[in-house]
Amino acid sequence: MRFPREFKPKPTNWKVVLTSPIALAALLFPLIASPVAQAVDESPAPSPSPSASVSPTAEPSPSVSTIPPTTDVPRTSLYNTDSASSLQVVVNKRRPLNPIDYVPKGKVQIGYAWVAKPVADAYLQLRAEVSARKLGTLCINSGYRSFASQKIIHAAKVAQLGTTAGERLAARPGHSEHQTGLAIDVSTTQLGCRIGPFGSSRASKWISQNAWQYGFIVRYPSNAKTPITGYVWEPWHLRFVGVELATDMRSKKITTLEEFFGLPAAPKY
Ligand code: DAL
Ligand code: ZN
Repeated sequence: MRFPREFKPKPTNWKVVLTSPIALAALLFPLIASPVAQAVDESPAPSPSPSASVSPTAEPSPSVSTIPPTTDVPRTSLYNTDSASSLQVVVNKRRPLNPIDYVPKGKVQIGYAWVAKPVADAYLQLRAEVSARKLGTLCINSGYRSFASQKIIHAAKVAQLGTTAGERLAARPGHSEHQTGLAIDVSTTQLGCRIGPFGSSRASKWISQNAWQYGFIVRYPSNAKTPITGYVWEPWHLRFVGVELATDMRSKKITTLEEFFGLPAAPKY
């Protein structure tokens, strides 16, 4: 294992990327492994929510434009949801990163992925527990993504699926949690680290119920939440928010950051 190690972000050398098979494979891996059909045409059975049978292709309900606060004390006063470097930053289609080309400091490498240091520590504990329970060997399919790499991923998804379906799977650059270094797409080595089949795995089912203990949430928890988060069910996309917030969300049975903080729903840009 090659961590921890300081990462000095460098401008992307596209000549190298486009001529080196390894670099090209690393860049395109999330695209190749991306579960287009599974995510867009999710059958109800593997979804963690009974209401996830809501068609992911249905237009977001116009009635869900704002979310009423569920507490007298604004929870946004308890956590910093605005700073790009905050572990609790809320990033969505209505909340771009500031600055839009934000690059997190202090990333460390795990396998092929780079992640923020607290994410690495929590992920390794989560992986150890998943292995101990014989649920599989976790791997990171995608971690930190620069503004430039997210731009390529977003453009590819939109070209492949069209704007509406593509943008329910891939964020525009400057609007992705991956750009914060706090999000990881996970799978297992037994699945070839492909994210498409991950939602049907025992590891995924266990993680959906227990990731909070390690400070992670399944950020796009069901297709029923698409009108709030803007994205279809992504059982592989874990967002690190810290144990305190993850525990708070769990105990209140609130599964999205938008609902927890009483922020506007973000189905569209
Ligand atoms: N797939 C998630 C939404 C992203 O592109 O950040
Ligand atoms: Zn992701």
